[in-house]
Amino acid sequence: MSKKEMIQSDIGSVLSAQEIAEIDAELAHIPYKSGAAIDALKIVQAKRGWVSDECLQGIAKYLEMSAEELEGVATFYNLIYRRPVGEKVILFCDSVSCWIGGCDDIKSKISNVLGVDYGETTADSSYTLLPVPCLGACDRAPVMMVGDDLVTHLDDKKITELFGSAANGSAK
Ligand code: FES
Repeated sequence: MSKKEMIQSDIGSVLSAQEIAEIDAELAHIPYKSGAAIDALKIVQAKRGWVSDECLQGIAKYLEMSAEELEGVATFYNLIYRRPVGEKVILFCDSVSCWIGGCDDIKSKISNVLGVDYGETTADSSYTLLPVPCLGACDRAPVMMVGDDLVTHLDDKKITELFGSAANGSAK
């Protein structure tokens, strides 16, 4: 068995064949293995929702990096989740334009409706609420991402429309 095959069989107990194939596809056009670090983390997160310690170590080994180096990348890139998250992550912008637009009140409303503060997940695992810096949609502030959707011009009505079903107590 070649060294690559040995590493693949070892990593194969942690990462799926599809994850390894997708990481390989990224590696095909990146000169240094560590250059695929963020993509590899995203690939695993897309399949599992978050990146566990075990997966992080598997990815690091596959990319010939130390786990500490890869942890540094994961920590720097704030959209890599190192703890389990809800089905949808709410990325709530609390930067200056959204703050001027009243995002503090909107955030309070979300917290009241869903029963979560920043960093928390609803009891039914539907949503995790996280703060993020500017989402690049300042002209439509206040804004947030709910899963893959950008929601703009936030106000109480929109929050009720979005999370109304959770407001009746299904979330925490
Ligand atoms: S400050 Fe919120 S999108 Fe820019």
